[in-house]
Amino acid sequence: MQSQLPATDETRTQVANYDEDQYDYRDFWAGRDYEHWAETRVLRRLFTRTPRAEWLVDLGGGFGRHIPLYQAHAAHVVLVDYSWTNLANAERALMPHGADGSLFLIRGNLYHLPFRDGAFDLGMTTRVIHHLKAIDEALDEMGRTIGSRWLLDVPIKTHLLARARGLAHGRVRVGRDRGPNAIGTADTPFYNFHLGAIRERLRQLGWSSTIFASVNNFRRWERAVPGRLARPLRPVVHGLEMAAQRVGRGWWGPAQFLWLVRTSPLAARVAVPTALPAGPMALLAPRMMCPACHGDLEWSADAARCVACQGTYGRKGAIWDFVVG
Ligand SMILES: C[S@@+](CC[C@H](N)C(=O)[O-])C[C@H]1O[C@@H](n2cnc3c(N)ncnc32)[C@H](O)[C@@H]1O
Repeated sequence: MQSQLPATDETRTQVANYDEDQYDYRDFWAGRDYEHWAETRVLRRLFTRTPRAEWLVDLGGGFGRHIPLYQAHAAHVVLVDYSWTNLANAERALMPHGADGSLFLIRGNLYHLPFRDGAFDLGMTTRVIHHLKAIDEALDEMGRTIGSRWLLDVPIKTHLLARARGLAHGRVRVGRDRGPNAIGTADTPFYNFHLGAIRERLRQLGWSSTIFASVNNFRRWERAVPGRLARPLRPVVHGLEMAAQRVGRGWWGPAQFLWLVRTSPLAARVAVPTALPAGPMALLAPRMMCPACHGDLEWSADAARCVACQGTYGRKGAIWDFVVG
């Protein structure tokens, strides 16, 4: 399994750059308490049913919105993201006393990850795959690094509101074809997906899937009601969301959370490098490899160098940069 990714068309694997135009993703969350609450509820419910993890990876973890929750459920958490701004915000908020081995911040590209096969026993991916046009390659690469369990948030084409909008425009068969649907703008494209097609791809990759929850079933409801009604209505909407998370699985909400379990668990291919980094990074280093050629890494306190292709990866504060090129 530890093979290199096939070369992909660059435009398909282009990364959504959150660092452009001084964007700060934390601002997106102003006034979205309901959405955050709805997701957190699902994650908490999931964690009551699944064993605590040794190594948890948050793929496209942003500024670490869910990290405190993940840290309560895992001995070691690794946040991977492409955005310097998000990672720096995560470092400031979550590592006020520096690295202690419970949280690692890795700058990386989800299409070319610097981790060995099965490096993590649990993977979490929320609000990320709408950025991934080459979804098959991305699922393959992300899944390769996870040995047994994975929570994957899938934005679907055929959610209730999309169907209702389609019907209003006289379209009955909204989103029924199995390909991704491109929305957004040419500069900022987003994709949503056919849930069956994603599950089928994951099945081919060795995962069995169940739909764990339909999430954010009443997205932006606060904006649809007069301000003075939002507060008294909140408990009602929260109650309805709790019910819809179960009954709406597969069709209601725009985000469907898939719970994936490997049909044959994959043992981590850990390899202790000849030269280890100082400090807590020595714990993660055996699970890492060169994201460009999958060669072994040699470490110093501030850099990792690939013994095969000589690619060098540096560190800024607590953030290790494993983006190729
Ligand atoms: C909408 S945010 C979600 C962040 C976090 N998962 C959350 O739920 O708050 C999407 C994140 O995915 C990251 N991202 C998108 N494409 C990526 C890629 N190819 N490689 C690494 N990170 C990527 C972005 O930098 C951004 O932080």
